[in-house]
Amino acid sequence: MASTQKEIVLSGIRSTGNLHLGNYYGALRKFAALQDDYDCNFFIADLHALTTAPDPAALHANVKNVLAEYLAAGIDPEKATIFIQSDIPEISEMYLLLNMHVGIGELMRTASFKDKARKALGLTAPDDDDDGDFAREVCGNETNKRVNAGLLTYPTLMAVDILIQKATKVPVGKDQLQHLELTRRFARRFNSFYGVDFFPEPTDFDFGGAPVKVPGLDGSGKMGKSEGNCLYLTDDPKVLRKKVMRATTDEGPKAPDSPMSEPVANLFTLLELTSTPEVVKHFRDAYADCSIRYGDLKKQLAEDILKVTTPIRERALDIMADDAYLRRVVAQGAEKARARAADTLREVRHIMGIRGI
Ligand code: TYM
Repeated sequence: MASTQKEIVLSGIRSTGNLHLGNYYGALRKFAALQDDYDCNFFIADLHALTTAPDPAALHANVKNVLAEYLAAGIDPEKATIFIQSDIPEISEMYLLLNMHVGIGELMRTASFKDKARKALGLTAPDDDDDGDFAREVCGNETNKRVNAGLLTYPTLMAVDILIQKATKVPVGKDQLQHLELTRRFARRFNSFYGVDFFPEPTDFDFGGAPVKVPGLDGSGKMGKSEGNCLYLTDDPKVLRKKVMRATTDEGPKAPDSPMSEPVANLFTLLELTSTPEVVKHFRDAYADCSIRYGDLKKQLAEDILKVTTPIRERALDIMADDAYLRRVVAQGAEKARARAADTLREVRHIMGIRGI
């Protein structure tokens, strides 16, 4: 089948640091698995990284880290288009145009915005029904703490990434589903406002399984860079073992078939992702009959995680040393991604009435 007839898959990861197990199981692992059967487009979201971490030296270094880790995890530039978001200037122009159809209110109600804005303002965790207070804090804050407009319009930029390539399948972790819902809403709104059938509505893509949320090791819900609880694909084995051995647990089950505390359930979630079904069953049985020793579980978990991460780490170190190759990969990717983006933008301008004299 010619590549133009294949369904278009697109996804990206922000260049805010090295990639962790959450990125791997939520996104990266699926990327490599899709590249034979789909028209795959994977990019490094450096513009999105600017919304929370505008540090020039770190941003520059992290674009290279993410690229090397994409390649080390098996994305093949001969099969998939790999590019840097900021290499496609058409994205920035379409972001401006699409923003004309996006409401401030719907952006302010987005969970990721509320979460990151709260962090930027140093506010504590939300009550369930505090939208009014939250809006007052964001708008009326007179300190020098600021919530930048780029953070608010993060979902517009993400929608543009997807829509400008006319992608229909978007492999992401669970935390990104609300952004995808907004993307579909913006696509529908654009189509109906201009009376066109122009943008397809993209869906998430998990090979039929449920979207994943990889937990942290500190008992908290999600592994994330800003939570400081990450196991990185490039962690040295010693460092990784130490992190796993320090994971939060509890005093252990006191009676057969006790319910699990969240930190212990999180360890089992990680075990299910990285170990064999036999190993998982062994520790589940041991938990159920109260013979479990968390130290043994952690040792096994660390070794099984290392089986996944070590080959990626070693390949990433090699690839990082080859700047000429890395440059070639993104130059070739940008050329392909720009061609399609330019076509879409040309049509969007025309539909919106930007047609010259
Ligand atoms: P980022 O960098 O925050 O996350 C990249 C990918 O990793 C997934 N992920 C997780 N999955 C499961 N468990 C976790 N603990 C975990 N932590 C991160 C995220 O769901 C995501 O798939 N906004 C996107 C970047 C982006 C994008 C796009 C994605 C920009 N434009 C267009 C798809 C299509 C993001 O979350 O990056």
